Amino acid sequence: MRHLIDILELSVNELDELISTACDIIENGEKYAHKCAGKKLATLFFEPSTRTRLSFEAAMYELGGNVLTMADAGSSSAAKGESVADTAKMISCYADIIAMRHPKEGAPLVAANNATIPVINAGDGGHHHPTQTLADLLTIHREKGRFNDLTIGLCGDLKFGRTVHSLIGAMTRYKHIKFVLISPEELRVPDYVKNIITDAGHEFIETTSLEESMPMLDILYMTRVQRERFFNEEEYLRLKDSYILNVEKLNNAKEDLVIMHPLPRVNEISVAVDNDKRACYFKQALYGKYMRMALILKLLGIK
Ligand code: NCD
Repeated sequence: MRHLIDILELSVNELDELISTACDIIENGEKYAHKCAGKKLATLFFEPSTRTRLSFEAAMYELGGNVLTMADAGSSSAAKGESVADTAKMISCYADIIAMRHPKEGAPLVAANNATIPVINAGDGGHHHPTQTLADLLTIHREKGRFNDLTIGLCGDLKFGRTVHSLIGAMTRYKHIKFVLISPEELRVPDYVKNIITDAGHEFIETTSLEESMPMLDILYMTRVQRERFFNEEEYLRLKDSYILNVEKLNNAKEDLVIMHPLPRVNEISVAVDNDKRACYFKQALYGKYMRMALILKLLGIK
């Protein structure tokens, strides 16, 4: 039985297979409409979420399966004092696969160690978010047509942004990747993530300037400052608008830049940018659904 806790658990070949399944789903959706008939996905979200939970649920419905949702899990069993381990054992009696989001780093791993069904990490604190990375990879595949020879700018909250940590991990396995890490000093990428980059033999630069970085980028991955992970509201207020991508800043960008964002957006991309052909963040959300469909099929062992 396989789980998905960290994107690095999937080999590059497995990622290629997921991408090709997702592309086949895009082309031939009807072939997949009953693949999960009789199967149940449980979504356990111990942290507020709309996008990711709905994306998982839409994915399961489009496969002909059913969904059990403990939408506001934090206010149910957890509030009564149930452990994550017990919740995982209990849900294993009812469902075939679990998607779990939790504010504590490592909680989905604890669930995986106790469940008798596959567990998917749908985001654990400021740590990882592997299924967002699946969405990101399909976006890069469809928009750039390659994973090698790319300069990727990641901008915003690189400290707490779990999508950034997972995407960096995934991209280090391709060739000739250059990471441009754009953030305020206070929100730099954690050392363990920098070590993943250098151990894989890639280069990174850290900078505070989005404007100066723009001309070299093939991909710009904007992120929201993660308010819920700050210890101090004043610090959040001071940093929240550090970067705002607007039409003017894109004047120096490559014609074929791909602008991504895991959503939700707060202020970091002005709405006028949505009309630019380089803006890919809503497509990225759609791609997330197809990749979650491919992942559910894989973990349930359905061909
Ligand atoms: C991201 C997350 O939850 O980490 N959102 C998402 O999954 N769609 C990014 C964020 O919340 O900023």
